[in-house]
Amino acid sequence: MRSLSLFSGGGGLDLGFERAGFLHVASFEIMEEAGQTLKKARPGWDVYGGESGDVRGVDFKKWRGLVDVVHGGPPCQPFSNAGRQRGHLDERDMWPEFVRAVNEIKPMAFIGENVPALGSAKFSNYVVENISGPLSEHYHVTPVTLQACDFGVPQVRRRIFFVGFRNKRVANRWKAPQPTHYWSDATIDAGGDRCMGLREALGLPDIGTDDLSPTIRSSLTGPRHTTSILNSVAAQRKFDSLKIWPNGVAASRESARAFVAKNGHFRLSVPDVALIQGFPEDWPFVGATYMTLGQIGNAVPPPLAYAVASSVADALKR
Ligand SMILES: C[S@@+](CC[C@H](N)C(=O)[O-])C[C@H]1O[C@@H](n2cnc3c(N)ncnc32)[C@H](O)[C@@H]1O
Repeated sequence: MRSLSLFSGGGGLDLGFERAGFLHVASFEIMEEAGQTLKKARPGWDVYGGESGDVRGVDFKKWRGLVDVVHGGPPCQPFSNAGRQRGHLDERDMWPEFVRAVNEIKPMAFIGENVPALGSAKFSNYVVENISGPLSEHYHVTPVTLQACDFGVPQVRRRIFFVGFRNKRVANRWKAPQPTHYWSDATIDAGGDRCMGLREALGLPDIGTDDLSPTIRSSLTGPRHTTSILNSVAAQRKFDSLKIWPNGVAASRESARAFVAKNGHFRLSVPDVALIQGFPEDWPFVGATYMTLGQIGNAVPPPLAYAVASSVADALKR
């Protein structure tokens, strides 16, 4: 099956789809560096990056009949708890473009991803008016919120996915991905493998305690660019207890080691943060450190993307 990616960023969803067996048709991403990341990671992919990747200027009808699944995560800033939550009043709201692309391509299925706040009561009207409403004319749409650590990612990170199928029978047999991993005793009975804690995942010595990483932030989300992955005061406390320094993330492990944090805590590097987000170590993020951290922090963790993509593939194949 063939997939087309919108708002591709550094490729979290794209990578999950590839692992789930989809043939990559094209990626569209407005940020030049992120487009270069995709191109460097997969030279054979058809990547529209920078100006040519701006979905607002693309006539998607030419992909009709050539794509089975359209997927994408429109920018989350209009809905994120960390922002002003202005929804459709925010000029970065790109859901109408996602809907337009789906309606022009008419794939068998789509997956649209965002922050869990989009599933909250505050945005229930927004969702009906801008996502499920306009898409349900031709699609059966189900939202599902998933937790990254349930799929082996050493991080607390919830994301909402709007999954839509053209065919009602296919929609009825689709099953939301079930956890493959557990962290807390509450989920241990469901079986699966134990998810690693942050220190274990980073290969750090046992200090008698470990935990999942707090949700990492994207350095491109706030008003100022930063090389911190810190989201909140609670996250600061968690990193402190794990003796990990979440600010001033270094470009490489070598430079992290050479630049010891004042309190002696472990300084993170870009490959460490990629690992916390479930990317393979060698995924070649392009750009200055804040840019690479932005691509990582914006991404759907690939193991989570894989789980959702596989669930859709299973429903379509049967
Ligand atoms: C939440 S991120 C997507 C992350 C991606 N799904 C992943 O898993 O790695 C949203 C992306 O949309 C891109 N974007 C914003 N406006 C766009 C536009 N008009 N056309 C194409 N991409 C756009 C941003 O640069 C950002 O990389």
